Amino acid sequence: MSNTMQGIIEFGKMLAAPSGPRGIQAVPSNADMRLLAKRKVPKMIFDFIDGGGGDEITLRANEKDLQDVILLPRSLVDVRLQDTTATFAGDNFGLPVIMGPAGLVRVAGSGGELSAVRAAGKKGVPYVISTSSAFSIEEIAAEATGPLWFQLYLWRSKELVKNLIDRAKEAGCTALVLTVDVPLNANRIRDLRNGMSIPPKVTLRNAYEAARRPKWLKGIMTGPPIGFRNLQGIAQGSSALSHSEFINKELANLGATWEDLEWLRRQWDGPIYVKGILTAEDAIRAREAGANGVIVSNHGGRQLDGLPSSIRALPAIAEAVGRDLEIFMDGGIRTGSDVLKAKALGATAVLIARPWVFGVAAAGEAGVERVISIFEQEIQQSLALLGAARFEDIDSGFASFPQSWERNAMTPDLALNR
Ligand SMILES: Cc1cc2nc3c(=O)[nH]c(=O)nc-3n(C[C@H](O)[C@H](O)[C@H](O)COP(=O)(O)O)c2cc1C
Repeated sequence: MSNTMQGIIEFGKMLAAPSGPRGIQAVPSNADMRLLAKRKVPKMIFDFIDGGGGDEITLRANEKDLQDVILLPRSLVDVRLQDTTATFAGDNFGLPVIMGPAGLVRVAGSGGELSAVRAAGKKGVPYVISTSSAFSIEEIAAEATGPLWFQLYLWRSKELVKNLIDRAKEAGCTALVLTVDVPLNANRIRDLRNGMSIPPKVTLRNAYEAARRPKWLKGIMTGPPIGFRNLQGIAQGSSALSHSEFINKELANLGATWEDLEWLRRQWDGPIYVKGILTAEDAIRAREAGANGVIVSNHGGRQLDGLPSSIRALPAIAEAVGRDLEIFMDGGIRTGSDVLKAKALGATAVLIARPWVFGVAAAGEAGVERVISIFEQEIQQSLALLGAARFEDIDSGFASFPQSWERNAMTPDLALNR
């Protein structure tokens, strides 16, 4: 029997078996982790994680455009080192990968955010606590052994925002990620079709799917109802669903402006990274309002459909502000070579979300650890194959991208006079 056939059979067995910590080591890629996760949770939950806004054009573009970046190798370079370290946020990290903020991860598996932050700590990868997490800042911080950042929205009540920042600081978070692409939540058609609610409800429509996954079902039925634990005592209402309505009606701030970022700058001494930037114009405004960096992001295609992919938006932003600001990027990063492509186009490090949430769904903490290991191994291998001894050596000479992307590259002067 060929090695390939043997490999397929082994992986098939692993899919069929309950994936304990050992079985999960056989998952060969993040694409396979996604497929495993799909089997472990009901469709409604898989779609909540996997899906995007509107017709999902932007969601698909994130991965498709990464495929359109071409890596340019160098031959016969001494690549024994394969140094994956990256410097950002004033520190050195073993990997250029950050666990991006994801809310309500307890829907994927009972350990939710706690499983993920434990795995991040073991691998020394920064973990960004989401304001919308299903465990509180303090509960997550209690499980953390690695760097913690906190993700924030500029909600209407400055008092509430200040309270969250103070709690994050107290819990040991060293950087703030300010998400600016959610003045309100976009329609996610898959969620609407599936009747997805917070907390998830077992209905006639999904009862069969849920009953086939008793472990998942037990996880979401035990413990407090799934909701926004950071807002306990703030969001009124008897169920988490009414919390969600409360957020849209009472907290969401359609009136937020750059002046609010200036206000935030005065409240927080550490780094502030503005997440959801897609143009050089906005990156410059972020710099002027006092941000330390930007996260080039379209929220993983979960907000406005029709936005450019993140990788496509990246080069113009890096060109405009890369000398003054730290540049991060997220959206569609699935492989080690994706990480190298982002670096070549101007990002210091990348954030990931769906890959680690699928890790939680597939096998809790062990699943997330495996996801990070896959990135680690693939980055090392890609460095060796590309002919770069160090991740930090990768620059624009290592990749090319479609010429048509230049049309996005509005010059900063033009952009500001628009
Ligand atoms: C299930 C899920 C929940 C998310 N929750 C948040 C959140 O609470 N705050 C936030 O700023 N971004 C959130 N995001 C967006 C991610 O931080 C990130 O921008 C995006 O998903 C990155 O793309 P990727 O999933 O393709 O890696 C969420 C994404 C997912 C998949």
